Amino acid sequence: MKRQKGWVVTFRPDGRTTEVMHGTPLLEAARKAGVALTTRCGGKAGCLMCKVKVEDQFAAGLQPPGDTERRKLGSLLVEGV
Ligand code: FES
Repeated sequence: MKRQKGWVVTFRPDGRTTEVMHGTPLLEAARKAGVALTTRCGGKAGCLMCKVKVEDQFAAGLQPPGDTERRKLGSLLVEGV
């Protein structure tokens, strides 16, 4: 959900929510919300352990994936991951 200064991000299925500024990585938002996402590479698109699915109506609010993210995610991108 878009707010004036940022976004309210809700993580499902547990419904944990946090408000973050524009440009905040989703991994950082998850940590702020208290959602435990296992990581191996620290969010550098090396392990895909932190991947999340973004509901279609919110995808436009994300920065486009970088080259490494696109290469690693492949066909998962069209599924909203
Ligand atoms: S933590 Fe490795 S890709 Fe996210």
